[in-house]
Amino acid sequence: METKEILQLAVPPLLGWYRVHKRTLPWRGTHEPYRVWVSEIMLQQTRVEAVKEYYVRFLERFPAAVDLAAADEDEVLKYWEGLGYYSRARNLHKAAKIIAAEGFPATWEGVRALPGIGDYTAGAICSIAYDMPCPAVDGNVLRILTRLFADESNIDEPKTKSEFSALLKEVYPQEAGDFCQALMELGAIVCVPNGEPLCGQCPWNVLCRAHAEGREERFPVREQKRARKVQSLTVLVLEREGRYALQKRGKKGLLSGLWQFPLFEETDPTAFGEVLKKKNAKHIFTHVEWRMTGYLVRAKEFLSEYVWVTAEELRNVYALPSAFKAFTEWIKKND
Ligand code: ADE
Repeated sequence: METKEILQLAVPPLLGWYRVHKRTLPWRGTHEPYRVWVSEIMLQQTRVEAVKEYYVRFLERFPAAVDLAAADEDEVLKYWEGLGYYSRARNLHKAAKIIAAEGFPATWEGVRALPGIGDYTAGAICSIAYDMPCPAVDGNVLRILTRLFADESNIDEPKTKSEFSALLKEVYPQEAGDFCQALMELGAIVCVPNGEPLCGQCPWNVLCRAHAEGREERFPVREQKRARKVQSLTVLVLEREGRYALQKRGKKGLLSGLWQFPLFEETDPTAFGEVLKKKNAKHIFTHVEWRMTGYLVRAKEFLSEYVWVTAEELRNVYALPSAFKAFTEWIKKND
């Protein structure tokens, strides 16, 4: 049987399964483009469980594109604090200004042209908000399809994604939004990446080639991943009279423009004052791993290269990335 015919057969059971088994998530049940867009940006590279709370809080504060467009970037970043990949928040803010002025784009090309939107997100937004037959193919969708067909294409080659995207487009049903989310949902809760997929619960159980061959775990085929670079860093939590030193990261690169505790490749913490505590922590980013040694230091002076903020300001005003979370327990609760 041709791949396309198998996929055509796979659509109805997938839709039926989705309607019964889909998770109740705060962005489901809306087709409002603004809301769909915010959810899809938050869900880029980020787990559903982590996004839920952020999504609800964000939409309470910024219920429409005009509210987001009118806010300060710092406030938008504060609402994003801890979610990671902060350029998403900056692009969201930029795009909100365009949407507030021109309305939400009504075509795939228009959506794709907004800052922060690639092919996948444009496909997801157009499918979910407008029921357009626009595939959204990410690693999860590639996993379930390569298993369905026992397809040994290397999913790290861009060609694989465009081939599966073209194939999906040919079988897209009317209920495009449900279909798009059903593909994601199957990858998220049944045809899972690590460990054993739950083939007993899968609507494609009888169609799946990989399952028939007992080779689910062999798919998808990937390139060898490049090892992450490991960086050793020293973090100083400098405290003086109930205030803590912060510095702003540079405008480019990892965590650009966000706040951090003074960070060094190497430094002598005793040069800054009396060391009270020491602790190691690590944080894994996509391409780099930070191995941090943190020191809580009672600073001997208010060094002018830092901004000295209260614990309350640190909590409520300054966006501090999760990488530094291990050290925030040293910040006194009541100042
Ligand atoms: N991942 C990306 N978009 C999603 C959505 N709409 N629902 C669940 N997971 C997703």
